Amino acid sequence: MIKINENYLKLKASYLFSDIAKRVRAFQEANPDIQVIKLGIGDVTRALPVVCIDALHKAVDEMGTDSSFKGYGPEQGYLFLREKIADNDYQARGADISPDEIFVSDGSKCDTANIQEIFSADANVAIPDPVYPVYLDTNVMAGRTGEIKDGRYEGIIYLDSLPENHFIPKLPTEKPDLIYLCYPNNPTGATISKGELGKWVDFAVKNQAIILFDAAYEAFIRDESLPKSIYEIEGAREVAIEFRSFSKNAGFTGTRCAYTVVPKTLMAYDKKGHRHELHPLWNRRHCTKFNGVSYPIQKAAAALYSNEGKDQIRELTDYYLQNARLIRREITALGYNCAGGEDSPYIWVDGKRSSWEFFDLILNKAGVVCTPGVGFGKCGEGFIRFSAFNSFENVQEAMERIRKIL
Ligand code: MLT
Repeated sequence: MIKINENYLKLKASYLFSDIAKRVRAFQEANPDIQVIKLGIGDVTRALPVVCIDALHKAVDEMGTDSSFKGYGPEQGYLFLREKIADNDYQARGADISPDEIFVSDGSKCDTANIQEIFSADANVAIPDPVYPVYLDTNVMAGRTGEIKDGRYEGIIYLDSLPENHFIPKLPTEKPDLIYLCYPNNPTGATISKGELGKWVDFAVKNQAIILFDAAYEAFIRDESLPKSIYEIEGAREVAIEFRSFSKNAGFTGTRCAYTVVPKTLMAYDKKGHRHELHPLWNRRHCTKFNGVSYPIQKAAAALYSNEGKDQIRELTDYYLQNARLIRREITALGYNCAGGEDSPYIWVDGKRSSWEFFDLILNKAGVVCTPGVGFGKCGEGFIRFSAFNSFENVQEAMERIRKIL
């Protein structure tokens, strides 16, 4: 008799953002005349940069001629893209990462979800609370947790991220093997200094742990003192895997392109205590389960590293940062405490009531969608998250509607 993976039964019935989309659809059906403004899921709304469109057109034409047609590409990504990533995102910032340590993929959601496969089933996992739900849910699916009790899974080391610690958790007293970190943070919008990140790198070195560092929002950093990559921190090549995406900087949420960095110096242990490189393990996984991002999409991503491409990314991210500042200013003026919204497209608001009450209030009375903080974990209860990914006009309108009801 075929049996299911019972770990799936430990999960909430649906993924946070699917759940919210369902509620919004129901509201919209009941109120067809209200134009709902979505500041919930972090999905970009502005068109792809012109450099990408030009590169896509050219690449599609290449696919239309036998002599330049491309079939399967390298699973790890074309070298023309990996070289640009290594030069611009790492070497230019003093981070020693080479093209063959980069794996191009179709998204950081998938990579942060899949990476845990190369670690042992009994790895002790430390996860921030609140957190991007994918890190936690995929470890539940893999059987690294017990049941959920009072909003928390048994077996997980939770790293509380609260206003009192500026949303940078304290180092745990337990000894984790895998540590998830994300800065600029989703959902709190908090950033981390090189000094604070250095403490985590030292902690990982001391505990023979690996940090899984999600840097999907690095393009929103304007404060030059903040690290854009964990590899700007000494020692990180020995303990960190980094995830980056073209989704939020260049609007690729529907286009799909991202990359993961697995340095060749990264080691982990087998049961007998023998050391193994992680790079060949991830390479094996990538080649076995993934066939590469399409050629035109990789050409579009590579175009972002030209001078025009860099300017166009800057323009896009500045636009969303202007929205973020407006949301932060307006919500603060209404008497609410906020984090994020600077160097980040997310604003984390203490809603002074339960997260879902706040969500329902602004959806039902203002037709504005946010994300309830409790959906990101127990420490998110009482908070809500606004995303700055929408048009400036819609954000202005949303703030006006919220001002009227709060
Ligand atoms: C979010 O809203 O947290 C993100 O858009 C989710 C994602 O990138 O998958």
